[in-house]
Amino acid sequence: MANWIVLLVAFASVNLSLSVRELEYSTPQSCKELKQTYKITQDGLYYLSTPSGVVYQTYCDMTTAGGGWTLVASVHENNLYGKCTTGDRWSSQQGGSPNVPEGDGSWSNTVTFGTAEAATSDDFKNPGYYGIRAEDVAVWHVPNNELVGRWKLTSFLRYHTETKFLNNYGGNLYNLFKQFPVKYNVGSCPANHGPSVPVVYDVGSATSNHNLYGPNIRANSVPGFITFRAINAERAAMAICSGVKPTGCNNEHCCIGGGGHFPEQSPRQCGDFTSFDWNGYGANTEWSASKQITEAAVLIFYR
Ligand code: G3P
Ligand code: CA
Ligand code: CA
Ligand code: CA
Repeated sequence: MANWIVLLVAFASVNLSLSVRELEYSTPQSCKELKQTYKITQDGLYYLSTPSGVVYQTYCDMTTAGGGWTLVASVHENNLYGKCTTGDRWSSQQGGSPNVPEGDGSWSNTVTFGTAEAATSDDFKNPGYYGIRAEDVAVWHVPNNELVGRWKLTSFLRYHTETKFLNNYGGNLYNLFKQFPVKYNVGSCPANHGPSVPVVYDVGSATSNHNLYGPNIRANSVPGFITFRAINAERAAMAICSGVKPTGCNNEHCCIGGGGHFPEQSPRQCGDFTSFDWNGYGANTEWSASKQITEAAVLIFYR
């Protein structure tokens, strides 16, 4: 009798583990797969799986330019006056110091944080950021604290690349930033910038995007690009310049995310939105960005 029970339990657990494995293998690994294989066409939150079977929820844009875009990250500035303080996960939460040249290191590590649903209210990074193999990137600027169902409606900038540039950089930003570390003192401006990739606008335009930065930035950048790993005059590194290719070296006023040290009047330039407030918060004069772009989360998608 006892042997029977042991046998039954063993049989049941084999079946259980089989069904969990089946679930892992049937859960799609990207919104592109969800669209192509499962014919899902609605925008919204879905469950995806990593290759090793970790299931997570994220947002899929199933309509823009053919759809199949997976939200992998959001960069949110919770306090522009807090310079590399709590919430600056895409730069440093440990203060600005040459002793932490990579800051929190989020651009090239496997730490995850946040939830898709809160992606406009806090930072978000899921396993897709480093696990999905993608070709292109899309970026949305969505006002802070918007509900998921209103992201598309309220976004004032949405653009995407079409060159399949990620094929040249390991298939995602995790690998791109391994090649171009977001780290203080790894190179100089302008010689050691990472790639600038042309973008196509789905909402807004290259000009409307440019106008959200200060006039001094407009005079020192070319609109219509996304730039990765820009460096400034003091050898600080930034991750993404949204909508521009810098031609000068004061890129801290239009680029987001970064390493852990910005030497110019330290720590005035540290934080997720770096130095959008140099000539006043939301002022949109001299080097300062507008209030609209300062108070919007940057959502990053792969396809
Ligand atoms: O990033 C701007 C800062 O370096 C100072 O610029 O115009 O006061 O020389 P400016
Ligand atoms: Ca901050
Ligand atoms: Ca943040
Ligand atoms: Ca400067």
